[in-house]
Amino acid sequence: MSSISRLLLSLFTLLIFLSLFPPTITSQSQPEQEDTPITRFQRYLRIKTAHPNPDYASAVSFFTSEVHSIGLKTLTLEFSPGKPLLLVTWPGSDPSLPSILLNSHLDSVPAEPSKWLHPPFSATRTSDGKIYARGSQDDKCIAIQYLEAIRNLRMKRKFQPLRTVHISYVPDEEIGGFDGAAKFAASKEFQDLNIGFMLDEGQASTTDEFRVFYADRSPWHLIIKAVGMPGHGSRMYDNSAMENLMKSMETISRFRENQFDLVKAKVAANSEVISVNPVYLKAGTPSPTGFVMNMQPSEAEAGLDVRLPPTADPDLLRKRIADEWAPATRNMTYQISEKGPIRDYMGRPLMTLTNESNPWWSVFKQAIIAAGGKLSRPEILASTTDARYMRQMGIPTLGFSPMINTPILLHEHNEYLKDSVFLKGIEVYESIISSLSSFKGGSVEASTQVQ
Ligand SMILES: *[C@@H]1O[C@H](CO)[C@@H](O)[C@H](O)[C@H]1NC(C)=O
Ligand SMILES: *[C@@H]1O[C@H](CO)[C@@H](O)[C@H](O)[C@H]1NC(C)=O
Ligand SMILES: [Zn+2]
Repeated sequence: MSSISRLLLSLFTLLIFLSLFPPTITSQSQPEQEDTPITRFQRYLRIKTAHPNPDYASAVSFFTSEVHSIGLKTLTLEFSPGKPLLLVTWPGSDPSLPSILLNSHLDSVPAEPSKWLHPPFSATRTSDGKIYARGSQDDKCIAIQYLEAIRNLRMKRKFQPLRTVHISYVPDEEIGGFDGAAKFAASKEFQDLNIGFMLDEGQASTTDEFRVFYADRSPWHLIIKAVGMPGHGSRMYDNSAMENLMKSMETISRFRENQFDLVKAKVAANSEVISVNPVYLKAGTPSPTGFVMNMQPSEAEAGLDVRLPPTADPDLLRKRIADEWAPATRNMTYQISEKGPIRDYMGRPLMTLTNESNPWWSVFKQAIIAAGGKLSRPEILASTTDARYMRQMGIPTLGFSPMINTPILLHEHNEYLKDSVFLKGIEVYESIISSLSSFKGGSVEASTQVQ
């Protein structure tokens, strides 16, 4: 049989099979009349809240109606025009006690549809349960899980919290949170919530242990500039701008290697060292075909992404930059822009204690165990989240997204989350929210002894 006729035959067989047993494909094409935690998750995933034009209005109206359907109140705050923040409140029986805040950002990073197996805003659920969508891990899952956990506690289990529980849905986390969580944390409205403890997003875990984050690294954008004598491309001479910049780049590379060696030797985790990575180099005299090749330019510049763990001394790094990376003696200048706080309002490192001196930690940990979960060693997050703005206010904050046995796909193509992992997360939050909101003691001490 020729390969063509073999193909035709198998197609024919398939057609017969399909007409006898129509497949049940669970995907976006099938109308989803049912209203379940999964379909509510999919509906949220389909709202295009990716940058550069996040549809915050649709997301806020989606959550407002979901929240009202479980009998709770919402409040929309707007610290920047067109950037709403939705606050959900579940009043506790003792509103004088510090409350619990669960935070989630509404926005996501963009996606390139052509690089995806399924369109990034289709929330396609495959037969093996993977729900593909931009934001499925970062962090639309927790946004729905918080609400579903409260729905179950409230409607099914008739649970009544002692402490008030709030959820905040905030804009702009992916572009720094300056018009979102930063303004919220600094507001009178935030202060009035009297928050004792909060949870923000974490990251997926590839093992069967949940990951938890007690600090973020703080980003600095560093630009170093060199000037020097311009000259003919053929001449060897000292103190050209390029030479000055290259000397600095060598020094910076050595520092980078030393930090990286600590990671390679497993003395420190990636997030526990200072990372410094060149992100651009700028020099040269443009010509119609590229650059003038026989001329050494009088200016050269480099941009670097620097990340400091809370344990690093920022003053020491500033001195290193001034003395070694961009010394004025080599005609260099520099500019540091700190993209967020490094110390809290009391001058303490921005981190939440994960030992007995933070009573919230024990409550959180017990709640995970009670839900049948395991926690891995608390970590510093290599990147940043909105949690830093709340830690800056002295509020104990843990980063946590309940996703075990899941590849880390945030900001990547084909971001997905398995339905079973998503559903298990709701149970985990039921345990966490009921434990935290029933916690009787320790609140005053915890919020003042975070460090
Ligand atoms: C700094 O710039 C001055 C003026 O252009 C020049 O004379 C001197 O050699 C430069 N020094 C270094 C170390 O580049
Ligand atoms: C908790 O950790 C902090 C920081 O590492 C430490 O200073 C403090 O003594 C610890 N407290 C207890 C009870 O272990
Ligand atoms: Zn995120």
